[in-house]
Order: sequence, then C-alpha cells, then structure tokens
Amino acid sequence: LKKIGVYTSGGDAPGMNPAIRAAVRTALSQKVEVVGILNGYVGMIENRMITLQMRDMANIIQRGGTILKTGRSAEFMKPEYRATAANNLKAQGIDGLICIGGDGSFRGAQLLGAEHKIPIIGIPGTIDNDVYGTDDTIGFDTAVNTALQAIDKIRDTADSHDRIFIVEVMGRNSGWIASHVGLAGGAEEILTAENIISVDKIVENLKNSRARGKTSSIIITAEGQKPGRAYDLSDAIRKKSGLDAKVCILGHQQRGGTPSAHDRILASRLANAAVEALLAGRNNTMIGVQADKLVEIPLDLVTSKEKPGDKTLIHLARLLSI
Ligand code: F6P
Repeated sequence: LKKIGVYTSGGDAPGMNPAIRAAVRTALSQKVEVVGILNGYVGMIENRMITLQMRDMANIIQRGGTILKTGRSAEFMKPEYRATAANNLKAQGIDGLICIGGDGSFRGAQLLGAEHKIPIIGIPGTIDNDVYGTDDTIGFDTAVNTALQAIDKIRDTADSHDRIFIVEVMGRNSGWIASHVGLAGGAEEILTAENIISVDKIVENLKNSRARGKTSSIIITAEGQKPGRAYDLSDAIRKKSGLDAKVCILGHQQRGGTPSAHDRILASRLANAAVEALLAGRNNTMIGVQADKLVEIPLDLVTSKEKPGDKTLIHLARLLSI
C-alpha cells in the first residue's frame, strides 16, 4: 500500500484524536502516505480530504472530539453515493482505509469494501461500548468518568435535600454506560433495555429504602430503556406514590472532554495494530481488545451480532446500595 485514508464516523468519542495520531504516525513511519477524510462518509462523498503529516499530529493526544470531524450519512447507505465516494478515493490514490467508529460506521465500510474492492480495517470508537467482539471501545472510559463526576455532584444536592434523582445517561440502546456509572456512583436502581423494572417495583423499592433510613436515592436510566425516558418515569413515580423524583439528563457532555489515560492507551494500541494489519494485507476486519489482548474480528461478525450488556454489575450495584 502507498497511501491510506483515515476517517472518524458516527458520534465522536474522546480518544479519537489519539487514535488518528497513532494511525498516522504508524503509517508515515513505514513510508505510507496518509489522507484524512473529513466528516466521515459525508466528506468521502463530497471529496473533502487533506494530506496528514507527522507534525499535524502534534498536541492532539489530549484533545477531545476529532480533528477530522465526524458525521452521520444517510446517503452513504445508497450504492450510487458509495460509488461517488469510491471514485473520490481512487482519484486521491487511496488504496486502503482505517475507519474509526461504531457498528453503523462499520456497516458502511463493509459495503464500500465489498463493492469497490478497497481494503478496510475498523477501530471501535464510541462512548456506548456496544460493539460486538471487543470488551472496550475508545471513549467509553472517559464518558463513564464524565457522567460519574456529574452524578457525584448530584449526590451532594440529593443528600442535602433528602431527594430522589433520576439521572439519564447516553448509550443509545445499550446499557453499558448506565451499568458502569450506576455501580461506580452508588445508584439504587439501574434501568436499561435489558433490565426493565416496573414503576410499581421502583416505588416499592424506594419506599423500602426510606423505611430503612435512606434519605436520598439515585436512579440511573439508560436513554434507550423502555418504556420511557427520565421525565416519563418521574411522572409515573409521582402519579403512583406522590414521591417527587427530580430529573437530570446528562446528554452530550458525555461525549466531550479530555480523553482519559485509559482511552489514550487503548486508542494508541488499536490504531497502531490496525495500520499494521492493513499493511500486512488484512481486510474487512476490526481490531478489538479481549482480556487486554488485541484481537481481529471479521467485520461481518461485528455488524451482525449484538453485544450483550453486563447484568452482573447491575445486580452488584443493587446489593451494595442497600
Ligand atoms: O453513539 C453515541 C451517542 O452519543 C449515543 O449514546 C446517542 O444515542 C447518540 O450518539 C446521539 O447522537 P446525536 O449526537 O447524533 O444525536
């Protein structure tokens, strides 16, 4: 390979910049040129690409977001737009791609690779940690810590006022952020798509904990949790019991901020291995991490399987918040 393209796609995640840095510097050290594709598939279709040099990577290791910007492209799901993107890549002389993103981004990569014979390696980058085949994704650790800082602050005011708080965290349909911040933040209840608790049960638990002498409570709810979002839950609790549960939706702050040491190290390891794999002739695969070892998982598997949540953390949180 002579020239590779690197792009970030889908929701940004803290640690994407250290991943770009590691990919670019690994490739350039092997005399392979690197093009940065801006705004993910949007820039690929619109031919927005820049040449990346060693020094362009200076001072980005600690920055949140992504210097390449990102995007979500509905157009890329149509073959004619993928053909335009492939022509743009060929015109630039790009003969391999590194995709940093989540499973939606990998689905796009697979289609592009299969239709236009461009080798692609994926690196899991999403705060949601919902990518099959890897224990961990770039940005998850930072997002959990960001949410936790907010929850610790909410605990202060919850305790001072003897209040119940419902804190809604991100994660799309997955409950990874919720289960981790729930355990680490001492939550009494953690609601996820996989851990549905009825309003009756929540009210019963809240009343029992008050009877045991608890004066404040934190309920963590994942945004994709059914049947409802935080405000609906608060209304339902009030209607059933008269208890007042304050709502705090943490939102997009969970996606920003300086990447943690953990995410910088993960990003550097994954991106270095991804470029090495691409240069060694591998294709249509993702570099992930399992039991702290780097692994290669075919993209077909990554995009066709759901990663189950970790209910053991939820059970432990419940046991320990007694
Ligand atoms: O995938 C990351 C994520 O932050 C999800 O947790 C959330 O559901 C979604 O992106 C929000 O996306 P957007 O910023 O495009 O609304």
